[in-house]
Amino acid sequence: MAVRQIKNDIFYVGAIDWDRRLFDELIPLPDGTSYNSYLIKGSEKIALIDTVDPTKENELIKNLKDLNVSNIDYIVCNHAEQDHSGAIPKILELFSEAKVVTNQKCREQLMELLLVPEDKFITIKDEDTLSLGNKTLQFFITPWTHWPETMFTYLKEDNILFPCDFFGSHLATSDLFVRDREKVYFSAKRYYAEIMMPFRNVNSKYIRKVKEIGPAIIAASHGPLYDKPDFILNAYEEWSSTIKNEVIIVYVSMHNSTLKMVEFLTESLMKKNITVKVFKLTNSDIGEIAMALVDAATIVIATPTVLTGAHPAAVYATFLVNALKPKLKFASIVGSYGWGGKMIEQLTGMLSNLKVELIEPVLIKGYPKEKDFTLLSNLANEIERKHKELNIS
Ligand code: FEO
Repeated sequence: MAVRQIKNDIFYVGAIDWDRRLFDELIPLPDGTSYNSYLIKGSEKIALIDTVDPTKENELIKNLKDLNVSNIDYIVCNHAEQDHSGAIPKILELFSEAKVVTNQKCREQLMELLLVPEDKFITIKDEDTLSLGNKTLQFFITPWTHWPETMFTYLKEDNILFPCDFFGSHLATSDLFVRDREKVYFSAKRYYAEIMMPFRNVNSKYIRKVKEIGPAIIAASHGPLYDKPDFILNAYEEWSSTIKNEVIIVYVSMHNSTLKMVEFLTESLMKKNITVKVFKLTNSDIGEIAMALVDAATIVIATPTVLTGAHPAAVYATFLVNALKPKLKFASIVGSYGWGGKMIEQLTGMLSNLKVELIEPVLIKGYPKEKDFTLLSNLANEIERKHKELNIS
C-alpha cells in the first residue's frame, strides 16, 4: 500500500485491511479496518509511532523501504494490543539500534506478550518529552483508552495528536483524511460502542484533555485521520452523555410465543412515538446492537425458557450488554415458558454492571392471551412514563 505524506517529514506508513471481517474472534468488521502507523523524520532522530498487526508487517516494511528509511531511533508504542504492537519484534530485528519508547505498564505488557527484551526500552512518564531535533514528541498517559497501559503521543510543532485506539474507526478506506463524514461517523460510533463505551466515565476526562491540547489533526490508529477534530470530539461527547427516547429489544423465540410478545410490545411503544430498535439475536450483528446501546434509555430482553433458564442466545446477549456498560436507565424482561423456570432471576443477576431500574417483567405461560397483552400494554405505559420523567420523550 502506498505511503502517504501527512505534512513535511510526517508519513502514513500503516496498512489497510480490506478483507478482515472479525476482530478478537468476536467483533464483526463489516467495513474492514486499518492499522495506522506513522513515521516522523526529525532533523536528528526518526520515530515510528505504533506499528501494525503482524499479518500486515510486510506492508509496513515495504513502506519504510519506499521512504528509504535506513535507521529508526524510536518506536513509540501507545498501546500493547497486537494490532498496533505486533510488528515491533520484526522492526527491532530490522532496525537493531531502535528503542521502544513507552510507559512502564506498556513496557511490562510488551515484555509479556511479545517477549521484547528489557534492554530495548526507554520508559517515559506522563507529560515527558522526547526531542527528534526540530520536532518534539510529548506523551500523555491515558489509562483505559482501551487497556490500562494506553497513552497518547503529541507532536508539538505540527500540532498532531496520535491517540491510538481513542477516536478510531474500523473502516478500510483509501481516504487519508475523513472525506465521507456520514460513513466515518457510523464506523466511529460502532467502534466507540464496542471498544470505548465500557470506559466512558473515565474517558470523559480525556476528551477534555484533547480539547485543551487543541490538535489540528487527530491521527488515530484505525480509520482515516481527522483534519477537523471537532467532528469526532463532538461525537464522543454526544455518545458519552446523551440519552434518547429509544428502546432496544433483543429477542430470541423458538415457537413464536416470545416473538408475538415482541411484536405487540414494539407496536405499543411505536404508538407512543418511542423509537424502537429490534434485534433478533440469532442473526444480528453484535456491533449493531452495541451501537443501539449508545443511545437507548431502555433495554427489553425477550426470551423463552430453555430447560429452566433463558435461551443461551439471550444469556450471551445479556452478558455482552453488561460488559459494555451502556448508559441505559431502565431494563425489563419478557418471555414465555412451558413449565416454569428462573430466567428473570438469572438475567437480572447478570446485569450487575448497569445502573438500571428494573421495570416489572412480563413472564407468561405458552402463547400470549388477552390478559398477557394487557401486561405488555402496562409495560409500554410504564416505559413511556419513565422516559417522560427523564425529559427525553
Ligand atoms: Fe486497536 Fe486496542 O487495539
